[in-house]
Amino acid sequence: MRILMVASEANPFAKTGGLADVASGLSKALAGLGHEVTLALPYYRKTIKPNLAGEPVGKLIIPVGEKRVEAEIRSTTLPGSQVRVLLIDQPSYFDRAGLYLEKGHDYADNAERFSFFSRAVLEAARFLDLQPDIVHANDWQTGLIPALLASEYRLQPWFQKTASVFTIHNMAFQGRFPWWDYKHSGLRWDLFNWRQLEYYGELNMLKAGIAMSEIVNTVSPTYAREICQPEFGYGLDPSLLARGDALCGILNGVDTTEWNPATDAALAQRYTLDTVKEGKAACKAALQREVGLPQKPDSMLLGVVSRLTDQKGLGLIAARAAELFRADIQFICLGAGELKYENWLQELKNQFPNKVASVVGFNEALAHRIEAGIDAFLMPSQFEPCGLNQMYSLAYGSPPIVSNVGGLADSVVDCTPESMGNRTGNGFKFTQYTSEAFLACVWKAVGVFQHDKPTWNRLIKNGMSRDWSWAHSAADYVRIYDSARSRVR
Ligand code: ADP
Ligand code: GLC
Repeated sequence: MRILMVASEANPFAKTGGLADVASGLSKALAGLGHEVTLALPYYRKTIKPNLAGEPVGKLIIPVGEKRVEAEIRSTTLPGSQVRVLLIDQPSYFDRAGLYLEKGHDYADNAERFSFFSRAVLEAARFLDLQPDIVHANDWQTGLIPALLASEYRLQPWFQKTASVFTIHNMAFQGRFPWWDYKHSGLRWDLFNWRQLEYYGELNMLKAGIAMSEIVNTVSPTYAREICQPEFGYGLDPSLLARGDALCGILNGVDTTEWNPATDAALAQRYTLDTVKEGKAACKAALQREVGLPQKPDSMLLGVVSRLTDQKGLGLIAARAAELFRADIQFICLGAGELKYENWLQELKNQFPNKVASVVGFNEALAHRIEAGIDAFLMPSQFEPCGLNQMYSLAYGSPPIVSNVGGLADSVVDCTPESMGNRTGNGFKFTQYTSEAFLACVWKAVGVFQHDKPTWNRLIKNGMSRDWSWAHSAADYVRIYDSARSRVR
């Protein structure tokens, strides 16, 4: 199959969150299954390293409303794979400090930027004669693509048999813009209606992808069910329900070329299931040293690597910090995001200098060392479409402590006598979203860690021995690609 994957970020080109890991990990896995995969991204000149920028292969003129805007197409490959990468270059849109925002404010012309990008990708596919069987668009930044395909491009011979799949990575980000921004899309005005691209008088790009794609999916089966309810649907639950069996959930995988403790170059010591005890002890000591925590092998070291935003449930940790850090617990948090949480971390560090370490910023290598060096990972998210860090933690032998939502519910199996008996238990989960339930869940984990090493070691083993790679999920994507294609034949 010829697959055109389109995303607004991908590793190692540009990354703000899990979408980047998925865009590259899934593309690689699909190429590994023998499919011809092209991945299209904006060319963020300030972010993408020169050695990854490829070569120009052509220039196109893209209509953006009444303007005509040049797009230079650059071509390269995804490192370590057969995946071709197209970078869409237009400095006035993408030569900026951020991908979507700067200093906490979204770029005012985001609708125009991603309208341009969406059309430019389809024009590039025609120019390069890619003839994709599938265009796989991700999140609101590419939500117009299924609409462009269904209403314009499929009328052309290059795209007659092209089906679209749209993946939702987060309902909280919808790409909502005033109606007058719709003109940048160049789409027919009759599509601007409440069933398709309009949402209470505004343009909604996520809704466009949901309504106009052949198949829509999200990144875990539980989140696929949750978002059909008002509590998680962020206003689009009716649009999702309307898709019926064209909506499904596929759990993300782990890119094991990047996240594997046996080969991870960032670690002080690499390890496998057989050497996890010594390996993790060495990584823990090195991490404590690196972040300035006392080198106590027996203190339970909890960790977080996260965007600092309400979604990730940091409020629960904040609410119970005073009680938590009275116990023999250490905490390391790596994150960047909202100022209120950056300030909170600073205060926490001042309050518990021997127990808490925090690093504000984006640091890929440290993220790996944290996954390896901690004893347990905290991820008490309010909602979590999939979540990758809990799976990285499982693969690195650091049992996750999570809320029972979305992809956390689908990947973490709570430690109970039953789940330890059938060897599926791999972490700790709480269901009621309260700080009491969260704290009780952490105490349970602390209790097992301190007093029941055989169970703790079993949790590590259960987590590490399951296959978290993309193998299963990539095959599931191929199935929904087939089903999308059958809808346009
Ligand atoms: P989300 O996409 O909602 O942020 P995920 O768990 O799916 O959550 O993915 C987050 C990705 O971003 C992971 O690869 C994680 O390691 C990475 N990440 C998040 N914050 C940081 C940071 N401050 N430094 C390095 N990596 C980070
Ligand atoms: C989003 C979600 C996260 C998911 C990631 C990749 O950022 O918040 O849960 O893992 O996308 O799909």
